[in-house]
Amino acid sequence: MIIVTGGAAGIGGALTTVLTKRGASVVAVDIDEEAGEKIQKVNQEKIAFLKGDVSKEQVAKDAVKMAVSKFGKLTGLVNNAHASRQKPLMELTKEDWSLSFGTGLNATLYFMKAAYPELMKNKGAVVNFGSGAGLTGQENQASYAAAKEAIRGLSRVAANEWAPEGIRVNVVCPLALTEGVKNWKENRPEQYKQVANNIPLSHFGDPQKDIAPVVAFLLSEDSQYMTGQTLMADGGDIKLR
Ligand SMILES: NC(=O)c1ccc[n+]([C@@H]2O[C@H](COP(=O)([O-])OP(=O)(O)OC[C@H]3O[C@@H](n4cnc5c(N)ncnc54)[C@H](O)[C@@H]3O)[C@@H](O)[C@H]2O)c1
Repeated sequence: MIIVTGGAAGIGGALTTVLTKRGASVVAVDIDEEAGEKIQKVNQEKIAFLKGDVSKEQVAKDAVKMAVSKFGKLTGLVNNAHASRQKPLMELTKEDWSLSFGTGLNATLYFMKAAYPELMKNKGAVVNFGSGAGLTGQENQASYAAAKEAIRGLSRVAANEWAPEGIRVNVVCPLALTEGVKNWKENRPEQYKQVANNIPLSHFGDPQKDIAPVVAFLLSEDSQYMTGQTLMADGGDIKLR
């Protein structure tokens, strides 16, 4: 009984697939109706698709309602969706900032707030998404990096505030070859090459094999003694201390 934002495609699609294969039911919230309907057909019993823009608070409320009415309860939340534009910071417009902060930070907060009462009942877990781009300060990623680091800050506070209720909040920073990354690879081939060459495990991750299992671990009781952490699922690229 897990909500996955951006759950129709990319890493989110892989999460929906892997979590349901492991027995969970998933409400996949996504703005892409075609991809959402496609993924729902893979397992009609365990996947419910909700079309919506995660930057709108009502969508978070609707997702929680849907999870409870369809599957009886909510045990996990994955804030995976995030849209942004890559530009030098001097060229970023107000709209660019609000796209990244709306779909990244605000959406993460809206879904956490909407899910909190249900997660409290079940000692649930939240997994939010950060990025190596935020940790390293990657060029042309100002609006994205700032929103991602804000998500990590929010996650640490929630980990402390919600620990008494038994709700755990952790962050995953993935590195995986998805459509979003493929577009970035086409627009910024030099930057892509630089990143790929620096990955110790020498390849971009596979969303289903390399990223989804890390998220599944953070949602499961196997990680019951972990909260407020950032896990790098990036082939060893960045080592946190
Ligand atoms: N792929 C990587 O290597 C990488 C690296 C670092 C961080 N991340 C993070 O991992 C997460 C997933 O990345 P991805 O590469 O799969 O992204 P993606 O762009 O391939 O897919 C994102 C999904 O979110 C959906 N989406 C976009 N805007 C939305 C909105 N406003 N409302 C609802 N749904 C929306 C898209 O339709 C898509 O299904 C993101 O938080 C991203 O920032 C990815």
